[in-house]
Amino acid sequence: MANILIIYSTTDGHTLKICQRLQQVVEAQSHQVTLCAIQDWRGIDLAGFAKIVIGASIRYGKHSPLVVDFVTRNEKLLDSKSNAFFTVNVVARKPEKNQPETNPYLLKFLRKISWKPKQLAVFAGKIDFPKYRFLDRLAIRFIMWMTNGPTHPDAVVEFTDWQQVEAFGKRICEL
Ligand SMILES: Cc1cc2nc3c(=O)[nH]c(=O)nc-3n(C[C@H](O)[C@H](O)[C@H](O)COP(=O)(O)O)c2cc1C
Repeated sequence: MANILIIYSTTDGHTLKICQRLQQVVEAQSHQVTLCAIQDWRGIDLAGFAKIVIGASIRYGKHSPLVVDFVTRNEKLLDSKSNAFFTVNVVARKPEKNQPETNPYLLKFLRKISWKPKQLAVFAGKIDFPKYRFLDRLAIRFIMWMTNGPTHPDAVVEFTDWQQVEAFGKRICEL
């Protein structure tokens, strides 16, 4: 049985939902999972985990700076363990942009940091226009219009492929 830490960076909660699904899959294989929000990592004994998984969503083209800070400060420790990183964004709803080799945000992130995650994944996220603040709604609707996505102001669409999430959960167990 492995003790696994999943650290997540989320704004609207969808990355946490993905982490909770991963937790279900991994715990069904008799491992133990601890979820930790990126802003709380200092309260956790990182050394006590066999595997560390980091999941982060994209907002206006970037992962949170807290994610870059975390991997930069803890690179050696991450390298000493099984580890994985996944990104969540709506560009990944496009089949030609939903792989680690083809998702522009993941590629950009990996160029920015020196840590080399041992496993990578890309998941399509969710849009929830009614939940967004006015300017965010306008901006995301505009991006959706540019990329042939849903634009109705009431649109709430989850693009996530949950089978893909579950398959990643099984890969975490095998790390
Ligand atoms: C204000 C805002 C900006 C976003 N910017 C991008 C973006 O630049 N590229 C993209 O692919 N998705 C973008 N998204 C979509 C999010 O990545 C998607 O909604 C994701 O599911 C959010 O995950 P979270 O709830 O864990 O933060 C944006 C969403 C919001 C609300």
